[in-house]
Amino acid sequence: MEQKSPLQLQICLDIATEAVMSAGAILEDYFGKLDTIEEKGRPGDLVTEADKKAEVEILKILRRHVPEHGILAEESGQIGEKENEFLWAIDPLDGTTNYAHGYPIAAVSVGLLIEGVPQVGAVYNPFRRELFRGAKGLGATCNRRPIKVSQTRELNKSLLVTGFAYDRRETRDNNYAEFCYLTHITQGVRRSGAASLDLTDIAMGRLDGYWERGLSPWDMSAGIVIVEEAGGKVTAYDGSPFVIDSGRILATNGQIHRSLSNALLETPPLGEWKS
Ligand code: IPD
Ligand code: CA
Ligand code: CA
Repeated sequence: MEQKSPLQLQICLDIATEAVMSAGAILEDYFGKLDTIEEKGRPGDLVTEADKKAEVEILKILRRHVPEHGILAEESGQIGEKENEFLWAIDPLDGTTNYAHGYPIAAVSVGLLIEGVPQVGAVYNPFRRELFRGAKGLGATCNRRPIKVSQTRELNKSLLVTGFAYDRRETRDNNYAEFCYLTHITQGVRRSGAASLDLTDIAMGRLDGYWERGLSPWDMSAGIVIVEEAGGKVTAYDGSPFVIDSGRILATNGQIHRSLSNALLETPPLGEWKS
């Protein structure tokens, strides 16, 4: 893969920043004032007018700056060729369920994959006014200040986060056993309801490890770059290289990576473990 210059990455990062900030303003405007909340397909998979308006705004900004790039947007799907070297992965509102209930944990996430690898990302949480940015080789920041992952070394001293995909009622691979087991052997497992913020919380050192299955590229592309640039590690559950289309991610501060990976692989079926 041809390495893009720091200047090229910086330009893309600024475009991503403009997009998340403009969309974030829309999310702030609509919060608590929604007229329409629809179910998209699976029960509980919601879409609101805020998701749609925020996505239109992001698409407008990307088309203005980089009309030649491909886009994969949660509400509009694939735009342009999938084979494009540059692919923007957009989640206009990550944490829709929270947002629709008036629970203020949600964000806008805009990431750029270059030849399939996340290299640029911006995540904006309008409720805490936190802007997270990262680009390969350029570091990670929150509100323009450098950020770093935590120093927790032992799994039993760690605070983790996970999530449950919308297909959880249709599959036994629903993460329930892992959630219970890891709750039992660590200081706790949180469930924020916004994958992009789970990743930025790892990057900030607020949480030590995150795992989830059933994710889409728009949920994680931006957050992955931010975690890696903050000194964290992102792989598949078994520690092998991360594959974005698998929907499965293990992201940690690096120090607990192997022990969390082992615990996930060794999780006994629900109810079959002893303290
Ligand atoms: C969801 C959130 C949630 C995760 C789900 C995602 P949405 O995205 O990131 O934390 O557990 O798997 O689909 O629907 O709120 O954009
Ligand atoms: Ca999402
Ligand atoms: Ca979404």
